[in-house]
Amino acid sequence: MIIVKENAFLIEEEAYAYAFYVDEGILRHAYYGAPVEKYVCDCSKINENGHDEPREYSEFGRGDYKIPAIVVRTQDCLSTDFRFESYEILESKPSIGMPALRGKKKTLAVILRDGRLGLKLTLFYTPYEEGLVRSALLENEGKERIILDKISSACFEFPRGAYESITLCGRANEERQYCRERVGMGIKKIVSTAGITSHTYNNFLALVEEETQEEEGAAYGFNLVYSGNFNIECEGDAYSRMRVVVGENILYGGIELEVGEKYYTPEVVSVYSASGIGGMSRNFHRLYRKHLLNPVFADKIRPIVINSWESIVFDVGEKRLFEFIDGAQGLGIDMVVLDDGWFGKRNDDDCSLGDWYVDTNKLPNGLEPIIRRCHENGMKFGLWFEPEAISPDSDLYRAHPEWAIHTNGRVGVQKRRQFVLDFSRKEIVDYVFESVKKLLDNYEIDYIKWDMNRYFTDVPNAKTYRNYVFGVYDLYERLTKAFPNLLIEGCAGGGGRFDAGILYYSPMIWTSDNTDAWCRAKIQYSTSLCYPMQTMSNHVSDIPNRQTGRSISFETRGNVAKFGAFGYELHIANANEEDRAIVKEQTSEYKKIANVILTGDLYRLKNPYTDGVFAQMVVSEDKNQAILLYVREHSTVHLKKENRLCLRGLDENATYIMEETGERFTGKQLMCAGIELILPRGDYASKVVLFRKEVRSH
Ligand code: DGJ
Repeated sequence: MIIVKENAFLIEEEAYAYAFYVDEGILRHAYYGAPVEKYVCDCSKINENGHDEPREYSEFGRGDYKIPAIVVRTQDCLSTDFRFESYEILESKPSIGMPALRGKKKTLAVILRDGRLGLKLTLFYTPYEEGLVRSALLENEGKERIILDKISSACFEFPRGAYESITLCGRANEERQYCRERVGMGIKKIVSTAGITSHTYNNFLALVEEETQEEEGAAYGFNLVYSGNFNIECEGDAYSRMRVVVGENILYGGIELEVGEKYYTPEVVSVYSASGIGGMSRNFHRLYRKHLLNPVFADKIRPIVINSWESIVFDVGEKRLFEFIDGAQGLGIDMVVLDDGWFGKRNDDDCSLGDWYVDTNKLPNGLEPIIRRCHENGMKFGLWFEPEAISPDSDLYRAHPEWAIHTNGRVGVQKRRQFVLDFSRKEIVDYVFESVKKLLDNYEIDYIKWDMNRYFTDVPNAKTYRNYVFGVYDLYERLTKAFPNLLIEGCAGGGGRFDAGILYYSPMIWTSDNTDAWCRAKIQYSTSLCYPMQTMSNHVSDIPNRQTGRSISFETRGNVAKFGAFGYELHIANANEEDRAIVKEQTSEYKKIANVILTGDLYRLKNPYTDGVFAQMVVSEDKNQAILLYVREHSTVHLKKENRLCLRGLDENATYIMEETGERFTGKQLMCAGIELILPRGDYASKVVLFRKEVRSH
């Protein structure tokens, strides 16, 4: 609900309230947190520090010395002075030309103007039940060109307090690690300058209070709906107040905005929860399931996939693939995905990207017999692409060397022996669309894995970064329009582009190339802070693990992978009868729980980063079913049973039956007294336990 009272604006939903007001033309922040209407009435009184009062959208050069949300330059001016002009309540959000949360939602548009520069700045606020979505629009209505050095989607202010940030930072094979730390006086900043979201930082940050726990205390989450360079900054000031600024990261030199031009920021989703980090995550999950993910797939159980990468690598051939497909037959697998190695002359990773036609040396009869074999065996077929890449050794590069992102007069930096195609240019996106479309038109392909394997170098100017991201969205847009039932799995050298922008089109993203179950447990734990489980693509792979060399039991590998979009990377053609039986059992168990994984509420019980145990449960929306996952890092000698574990999220008055043993417990017992699990001996033992609400017949 949007309420405007004299000079004050209040946004209030059941779960949160947000308030700001106009003070002598300047927009000042008043409150963000649990719904307390009193704040909006009193907001002009709560700031007692004179000139240093909280800003609703901070700017540079006019007396505010903390992080600005916007920085604009002209020949003779390095400040902005945006004053309130008017507001409007729009019936729906404006269309901003990039992925944004869906749904026709009332939106508050607050219009500010800098008279000296002739700039109009509109701040948009769209309340959803689970969170507040914000963005900004800058329009050059002045007389001269400006340079935009920075424009954020939003600025958030917090009162005096002891704050901590939780970020998802990491590296390839260890993406999105859980990092909670104190943010006191000074600036903490997470950024990407890689061109894509990157493995280093995800564009998510939670701000929590010192005492906030998993299910208690205040937690604020911020997530940018964007897939390129970003900037999330927190500044604690000398009065222990905190400012958080979130937006696109415009790199050096800025972006020119000519007279008459406009510039939309991406959306930032902000979520508040009074019930801790878990409450924040559940809000994000619900919001994304209802309003971000492609509706064709948001509530659709994902197919169980077997992907060829870890077993076949580049050694693609008709015979090898037939064996692979035949091996997967009858195991409950729904989709065979042919990963890298099927196109151009791709015998290793140093050539052919851009040449999206079947390598007839390897597959003399094309893809048709491969796809037919999948269908005969009751499975669908998916294919890997890396649409944004170009190898120097490719027909495409020989014809169009200038299509790689480059700086004139420099030799381009090669990474993984490839360049990035300049997707800021429409003719290049057209070419890639046509080449992918040709394959999709000619063959029955139900799924593609869209990979992206390198960061940018040699970008000639700041604008190219932004327009590149728009090019990626344009290709997604065209593909999803032309093939509405095509399921696209996102991927970027593992999970290097796991963000809400990609999730708008790709309802699942390859979480990491690291398929070691304990490493994955950690990655999945922290990824779930913001992103729903159904978006994490998880596969069981062979042991010793390709990345860590560790051998974790088949059972635990399956148990961890099941909590997401499930699949395999196995040498299935060589699997023995025992392993085949395990796969069969796992796929049938997954099918039993898949709907709850897709739509249920997640409760994290034990943090693998600090507790040596990864435990979480998913509870169906009606609380009739609950699935518990428990994974222990190291074996304990003295304990036969694991420490007592209290469950969460159940109906406390209901009776639940533990499926494995038939034991009955009330929800209250399970949540207060907890249960003790018996696990097999050995490190990395795990268990999945199903609970079903007892149905009473009257
Ligand atoms: C990187 C991806 O993360 C892998 O899963 C695989 O698809 C390879 N690329 C193929 O080159």
